[in-house]
Amino acid sequence: MSHFCFFKQLFKNPRQVGALSQSSKWLSRRLASGIGSCTNIVELGAGTGVVTREILKRLPKHGRLTCFEINPLFTQYLEAIDDPRLTVVTGDATRCEEYVDKIDCIVSELPLALFDQKDINKIMDITCRAGKYVQLQYVPLLNKPIKKRFARVKLHFVPRNLPPAFVYECFVHAIPA
Ligand SMILES: C[S@@+](CC[C@H](N)C(=O)[O-])C[C@H]1O[C@@H](n2cnc3c(N)ncnc32)[C@H](O)[C@@H]1O
Repeated sequence: MSHFCFFKQLFKNPRQVGALSQSSKWLSRRLASGIGSCTNIVELGAGTGVVTREILKRLPKHGRLTCFEINPLFTQYLEAIDDPRLTVVTGDATRCEEYVDKIDCIVSELPLALFDQKDINKIMDITCRAGKYVQLQYVPLLNKPIKKRFARVKLHFVPRNLPPAFVYECFVHAIPA
């Protein structure tokens, strides 16, 4: 998808799209590398699939990636990715547990800064049941709810993106398994 089409969707529904442009390759790689050696991955707010493709490059053959995206125009691009490890769900990320039972890692590009508190709590409660959680943010506003739920948190800054972005990498356990 061109940056112009993405921008048009932003214009139609700014609170839902929540970004000026698709993630840059530097940001996509930073988010995707967060999966580490996890094999059951859920991606929330997958958009047009720039991060999805980077996750698939790092996922082993037996791995599974389930993507949730609420905008049906964006899911058309996700469904065009031909990979047997990928499942695409057009729907609300707050209901992702209804579709996936085993989750090792959640990668989220949801615009949580624009969500209401009830939905932020729902997402946070789901993410802390996975071993690992990776979250994109343009303003690092999630320190409080994240530190309450996760034993170890790393905050990365990615300057090569429009706008520059932060990536939270959160671990349920204090010591790597
Ligand atoms: C910041 S964009 C990220 C797009 C893409 N992943 C990227 O990095 O370029 C956020 C995405 O979250 C999606 N989104 C917003 N609210 C959602 C929800 N409740 N459930 C699923 N997707 C949602 C938007 O449609 C949008 O594609």
